[in-house]
Amino acid sequence: MIIDVAIEAAQQAGRFLKDRVGRVKSIEVKKGIVRDLVSEIDKASEQQIISFIKTRYPDHAILAEESGGKEHAAEYKWIIDPLDGTINYIHGVPVFCVTIAVEHRGELIAGVVYDPNLDELFTAEKGSGAFLNGKRLHVSHTTELINSLLVTGFPYEIAKNPDHAVEHFVNFLMEARAIRRLGSAALDLSYVAAGRFDGFWEVSLNPWDMAAGMLLVYEAGGKVTDFSGGTASIYKKQILATNSLIHEAMLRVLAQGMTAP
Ligand code: IPD
Ligand code: CA
Ligand code: CA
Repeated sequence: MIIDVAIEAAQQAGRFLKDRVGRVKSIEVKKGIVRDLVSEIDKASEQQIISFIKTRYPDHAILAEESGGKEHAAEYKWIIDPLDGTINYIHGVPVFCVTIAVEHRGELIAGVVYDPNLDELFTAEKGSGAFLNGKRLHVSHTTELINSLLVTGFPYEIAKNPDHAVEHFVNFLMEARAIRRLGSAALDLSYVAAGRFDGFWEVSLNPWDMAAGMLLVYEAGGKVTDFSGGTASIYKKQILATNSLIHEAMLRVLAQGMTAP
C-alpha cells in the first residue's frame, strides 16, 4: 500500500539522517538566499527516498525539495522534504524529520512525518484518522488563546517581512500563553495534530513543508485555512492550522497584523 511505502521510505531516510548528525561536510546557499541552506545530507536523503519510491511506483510524479521541477502529469504525486529542519541539523540540534505525502488527482491522500530522534512516526490517510506510532491522535481541547501554546516559523527572507510576519509574531506573543519555534514546519503541524500545540501559523512555506502535516491536522480533527479564513492549500503561501476551537481568535489576531503599515 502507498502509506506503507511512504513509511518505509521516511524511516530509512530518518535513520540515515540520525546516523550522520554533526557530520555535515558541505553547506551550500540556495538561490542566493543567505539563510536558505542545503547540505550533501539533504541531497543524499532525497535521492534515497526517490529511488525507493521509483522502484515501486515508476509512473508516479515526484515533487521533492532539492531536485524540484521534475514533475510530470500523473494521477499520483509524491511530495517530499528529505530533511525538514536543515538549520537545526547543521547545528547538531536534534529537531528535524523526514516528511512525505501523496496526492491523488490533486487531493492529499497520505502523509507521513518521521522524527528519528524520538522515534516518532506520524501517519495519516484521508478519511482514516491520524496516528502517532499507531495510536490515534486528536487535536487539543483548548478554547482560549491565553491558555494556548502556539508555534510558528520564519521564512528565510524574513528581512523582507513578507505578509507582516514580524507583526503577527509580536501580536501572538501578547495574546497566547507562549510561543515556540521548533525549526521544522512538518513537526509543528504534527504536534498540532497530536494536541501538543494548539495552533500554528507561518508564511512562505513550500508544498513539501506542509503536505503531510496538513493531512495530519485534518485527520486529527483540526482546522486549516489561509490567514483570511479561506481554503487552505499546500500551494498557498499562508497557513493557519489549529485545534479548530481557537481558529477564529487566531484569525482575528492575524487580521490585526495585516493592517500594520
Ligand atoms: C524549513 C523549516 C522551518 C520553516 C522554514 C522551512 P527546511 O524547512 O520547515 O521550520 O520555518 O520556512 O523552509 O529548509 O529545513 O527544509
Ligand atoms: Ca522544509
Ligand atoms: Ca528540507
